[in-house]
Amino acid sequence: MPIEIKSTREIELMTESGRILEIVHKELEKALRPGISTLDIDRLGEEIIRSYNCIPSFLNYNGYPASICVSVNEEVVHGIPSSKRILKDGDVVSLDAGVIYKGYHSDAARTHGIGEISREAEKLIEVTRQSFFEGIKYAKEGNHLFDISNAIGTYAESFGYGVVRDLCGHGVGTKLHESPQIPNYVMNRRGVKLKAGMTLAIEPMINMGTWEVDWMDDEWTVVSRDRSVSAHYENTVLITDGEPKLLTLTESEERA
Ligand code: CO
Repeated sequence: MPIEIKSTREIELMTESGRILEIVHKELEKALRPGISTLDIDRLGEEIIRSYNCIPSFLNYNGYPASICVSVNEEVVHGIPSSKRILKDGDVVSLDAGVIYKGYHSDAARTHGIGEISREAEKLIEVTRQSFFEGIKYAKEGNHLFDISNAIGTYAESFGYGVVRDLCGHGVGTKLHESPQIPNYVMNRRGVKLKAGMTLAIEPMINMGTWEVDWMDDEWTVVSRDRSVSAHYENTVLITDGEPKLLTLTESEERA
């Protein structure tokens, strides 16, 4: 599939979609505390998304049963919210959310600690986030797609972490998943050339231990094979002929 180049109007809609998703993540972060269930997070997330007249991108996507993916500790991605899963002090929680605004998807993920978490877990979360910023240093017209992949993978692996290979980032727009696939590990090819107007969801998933993962019987939840803690960080990014625009992270002070 060719990679779509978004028009000025489409970029306006993607920008608004991303702005709303950033608010959703901020509100969810505020609600996190020991004692809250992962279903409470999903309910709150869906409510906020709908309050902006948006649709949760993930709900019923290929049968996924919720609006927010909530993945705890060794869960890498696609954790299914449950009233029985109660967050506790020391948990590492990845929240992945998507919204559809006037037909345009945005997609973003954050990983947070609940209460006091271990120093090792803090570091994993920070390195995962930073690996995204290392990657987008190359997210610019004229560079190649795998420049991004290589930068993410090289950085994360330099800490001895496992870079998940079974799942990738992706183009995003009128569909949640568009071309191209964006690996987070080092590739021996350059990949396609980046062009202004591409909108990409770049999403490193990094394990403290092995990169290998298992898929659970619920058909969704992905866990690290050695059950080590995992972190996820994602933004929807617009390629330009200059600096990339982070559509789901507009506050400049958060930029690394
Ligand atoms: Co995504």
